[in-house]
Amino acid sequence: MKNLKNALLLKHLYHLKDLGHRYTDLTIFKEDPSDLLLPNTMEELRKQALNCHLCELSKSRTKVVFGEGNENADILFVGEAPGASEDSQGKPFVGKSGELLTKMIENVLNIPRSEVYIANIVKCRPPENRAPTATEAHTCRPYIFKQIELIKPKLIVTLGSTAYHYLTDDSTPISQIRGVINQQPDYIIIPTFHPSYLLRNPSAKKEVFEDLKKVKSLM
Ligand code: URA
Repeated sequence: MKNLKNALLLKHLYHLKDLGHRYTDLTIFKEDPSDLLLPNTMEELRKQALNCHLCELSKSRTKVVFGEGNENADILFVGEAPGASEDSQGKPFVGKSGELLTKMIENVLNIPRSEVYIANIVKCRPPENRAPTATEAHTCRPYIFKQIELIKPKLIVTLGSTAYHYLTDDSTPISQIRGVINQQPDYIIIPTFHPSYLLRNPSAKKEVFEDLKKVKSLM
């Protein structure tokens, strides 16, 4: 889903479902306002995301965390949503899990962090670090799909179940799917554990090491 009109439609449908509706008339959504199309440059896309108020998270965020890195990267890392440090700095993965992600990139893939691109499914921090709701993720994901379209990565490493789930619509648990290559028409997705899971479960680092070795062999 690459355009905001579809995301807004989905958000509206979730809202109607929450209110108890089971059927709705889609013809009322027919008009196609062109200002809901996402821009075709990263700078314009960033500006649009920084001014986004499409979901509730815009009310509580400090900064929008759009993403950062090499806009022509071969590898894109996608996380779930910003935490407290990211929310205050406006940059992805700058807290404790960011330190670990940087080590994973620099010590296992042997490339500088600045050579890859890092972004999240959801660009604003969910309060209390809760997982984003389906509505928040669906409303926000046109931004990550547009980032993918602009960056054209060869490989996407999804960090944790949320990122994998919302990029693929596959809800297989991460413990079953990690390390399994998911071939998409224009890129490969390799799901692995989220660094914050590794901070809580250091013994899972060896699996992530294997997944990153796979990434390295595909590079
Ligand atoms: N966790 C994420 O998923 N993303 C961040 O940017 C930071 C922590």
